[in-house]
Amino acid sequence: METSSKTQVGPQVDAAWQLLERSVVYVGDRPVGTVAACDPTVEALNYDQCFVRDFVSSALLFLIKGEYDMVRNFLIETLALQSSDKQMDWFNAGLGVMPASFKVVSESDGQYLVADFGEHAIGRVTPVDSCLWWMILLRAYVKASGDWELAHQPDFQQGIVWILKLCLADRFDMYPTMLVPDGAFMIDRRMGVDGHPLEIQALFYAALRAARELLLPGFKRDIYYHIVNQRLGSLSYHIRQYYWLDLKRLNNIYRYRAEEFGISAVNKFNIYPDSIPDWIHDWMPERGGFLAGNLGPARMDFRFFTLGNLMAVISSLVSDDEAQLIMDLIEQRWQDLVGYMPMKICYPAVADLEWKILTGCDPKNVPWSYHNGGNWPVLMWFLAAAAVKTGRVDMAQRAIAIAEKRLSEDEWPEYYDGRHGRLVGKASRKYQTWTIAGFLLAKELIAHPEHLNLISFNEDPDVLDWMLKVQDIS
Ligand code: GLC
Repeated sequence: METSSKTQVGPQVDAAWQLLERSVVYVGDRPVGTVAACDPTVEALNYDQCFVRDFVSSALLFLIKGEYDMVRNFLIETLALQSSDKQMDWFNAGLGVMPASFKVVSESDGQYLVADFGEHAIGRVTPVDSCLWWMILLRAYVKASGDWELAHQPDFQQGIVWILKLCLADRFDMYPTMLVPDGAFMIDRRMGVDGHPLEIQALFYAALRAARELLLPGFKRDIYYHIVNQRLGSLSYHIRQYYWLDLKRLNNIYRYRAEEFGISAVNKFNIYPDSIPDWIHDWMPERGGFLAGNLGPARMDFRFFTLGNLMAVISSLVSDDEAQLIMDLIEQRWQDLVGYMPMKICYPAVADLEWKILTGCDPKNVPWSYHNGGNWPVLMWFLAAAAVKTGRVDMAQRAIAIAEKRLSEDEWPEYYDGRHGRLVGKASRKYQTWTIAGFLLAKELIAHPEHLNLISFNEDPDVLDWMLKVQDIS
């Protein structure tokens, strides 16, 4: 692969590029994605497959480099997999579901792709995020390459509509947020992230924004455009209104009355003040805030989830002021959230009885490890993107400088353990592709901030109008 267009130099960057190239998966001579990890020292399990969510980091980097083919092939292949069988126990999951991962199988009559929709995955988890990432990546591809034709092809328009149908279907839920089972995204194990977890909502919002740009006028667009617009309005209203946490809001919840009935209830979700965890009293800074991890009846997850918060900044799910406050919080809680390796997947870890109940006694997710408060280098590019968007580039530079000291020497681990991320994760893969790509992408976004537009969205004036209208009515 041609990488001469690289703008960054240095032995670490060169080595990272070589490793990234080694991870590319081919069908014949067509590159179609990257494997999750190339660690020769451990059994591959499914890490030799191409994961949709993992590939996004590599894909954005390739797009920035002007290498569009692999991303185009990936989008075509994964779209085709959408209509393959997604069976478990004779139950066939709906159209629109995208695979968590796929592998290339070679037989005497040729090569073909085999998808895993979660029916092989540990815990049989549903990859809800895949179809959302696919839509976000399709928009990035079109923006980078100018190849609108691909998105306007009938099969692509149909694919977009299938995803929208699935995401916007009527269901047993009174909230505009998306209801999902546990482990439906990057955290793909039981971790108390079922219901309406923030990460899914932020990706949902970004995917709807992307769909609005991608729908071809005439092809069911007018109906969907309207439905998508309405949902964007109610989704952002709901998230900004109820997920937002800062000291003032915490104080309101602390003094909430419970058991309120009817339309005028202040404590709409019946959150009991006693459910506020002790750690947050001191942790919430004077200036700063973040979106809660989850919300449901008598349930507010006060944990800080990094990807959801940073994607909310990048996609303008939060307002510009809130975006600054999220960055303020990260800056002020740097040691907890970045520490020795950017950055924590969520804060804090759950322990003891709570760990038993939420994870089902998962030994991989013990406190401050893996999904339960581990540090994941891939999250560095989300931090860099949010930093560029909010004009806080110094924060990203600081984070990259920390990572640079260790990543290559530690052989590009999947995640780090410990309260401040000082130890290479106990069961961490080495040569994890999204760690490598995340590092390169973070550097690239800092060096060429103009590429942020592949993944970011500006504040939506339609949504603002909608929110003002709702505020007038309520
Ligand atoms: C782990 C991660 C998941 C990732 C996969 C492949 O299962 O939790 O987010 O997609 O590994 O890297």
